[in-house]
Amino acid sequence: MKKTKIDLEDFLKTILPDQKLLKFLSLARDISKKRREFLYFAGGVVRDYLLKRLYKKRIPKPKDLDLVLQGNLKSFLKELLEKVKGQILFESQFLTYKVKINLNGKEFLIDFITARKEIYEDIAKLPKVFASHFEDDILRRDFTINALIIGLSPPYEGVLIDLVEGEEDLKKGLIKPLYLNSFVDDPTRIFRGIRYKIRFGFNFSEDFFLALKKCFEKSALKKLSGTRLANELKLYLTKEPEKNLKNLLMTTYELNLFEEAELKINKKNFNSLISLLKELKGEISEREKEKIFLFGLVDSRFLESLYRLGFPDSEIKELIKYKKLIEENLSNWEKLSLWEKIKIFEKIPSIYLLTLGIYFPKIKKDLIKFFKEYRKVKPELTGEELIKLGVKEGKEIGALLELIRKEKIEGKIKNEEDEKNLVIQFLLNKSKN
Ligand code: CTP
Repeated sequence: MKKTKIDLEDFLKTILPDQKLLKFLSLARDISKKRREFLYFAGGVVRDYLLKRLYKKRIPKPKDLDLVLQGNLKSFLKELLEKVKGQILFESQFLTYKVKINLNGKEFLIDFITARKEIYEDIAKLPKVFASHFEDDILRRDFTINALIIGLSPPYEGVLIDLVEGEEDLKKGLIKPLYLNSFVDDPTRIFRGIRYKIRFGFNFSEDFFLALKKCFEKSALKKLSGTRLANELKLYLTKEPEKNLKNLLMTTYELNLFEEAELKINKKNFNSLISLLKELKGEISEREKEKIFLFGLVDSRFLESLYRLGFPDSEIKELIKYKKLIEENLSNWEKLSLWEKIKIFEKIPSIYLLTLGIYFPKIKKDLIKFFKEYRKVKPELTGEELIKLGVKEGKEIGALLELIRKEKIEGKIKNEEDEKNLVIQFLLNKSKN
């Protein structure tokens, strides 16, 4: 066990998103000292602090702080929350607690974790966990660079503990699993490893490939649930810088993970998927973006593959139906008028439509223009105003509003005055006939 004294004050100052948390932490440390329970930081916070020191790189402050206690966390938190305004928001089956605290009117979320041992009884299934010693808690982790801890209370107050040569691997820039069965136990770690590799510009260690081989031999990726697989892929989009997305997808592809996970992916979609998501910034919600991302990854010839990502039958059938609609018009696409194209687009709900723009590059330009612009064009005049102008109630109103919209989109009319003239002209023509 390698132990290095560190400047705890500097560590805390660097990692804490707000200095208000210093007082809170000092309270937590006092309680852990009184209870003689070891409190420490683990995972991303420690890794990022050391990375910053090693490479003098600007690393963003961690979004989540993982505080671990070797002891009885529930009773520890009860004591802590008697002294600080706050509440437990969520308690998981893995002996973890999400806690919301309020410091001078500002709210913070902190993850508290019990030092634990994990036992994997089934391939690619969630583990059974037991409260345990900090050494077990280090050794249950995914990669050596994530297995470093910094103590906040005795017996290792202000000490960096490294059981697995994690600091060496940080220096060498290596992504190395802790044990060879790591990806058999939890194949999501492979995707995590890819994210760290690309995020930090690191390399995979030899052990990474050996662990991957074991994972393939045991078909562990096939056994990973659809929800967990989809979640890991979504993290490429939500947790990593946008500029890394192509690399993340290509690395996943080249390691053969998609195929091993029984997902039919078309790597030709990657570029158009990435550029489409970029162009739609601000136009769609994060949830919509995630869905289009997953839909867009799969090979359009094998949409049944979406079952593997946990999508329901109804959504997959809808996507197949709308894909057919586009296919029927594809050979003739250039010959269709703008209005005809719009009439096709309007039949398809946004998420499916945008996905089809990824599958069929031929329609992508028209589709983006439709989505960003044409679909928002509405007549200034209302149905009631048309009636005032002398249009008969009933079907004619709808048809006229549609005509106004068409002429506006085609650029033939521009303002309310033009719309009124169009209506008057229509009524005149009608009275002539
Ligand atoms: N961990 C693990 N195996 C997993 C998930 C998480 O061993 N499948 C451990 C790792 O030690 C990791 C820690 O739990 O460092 C916290 O996980 P998470 O918050 O997802 O990642 P961070 O390390 O904080 O990294 P980042 O948020 O920067 O991606």
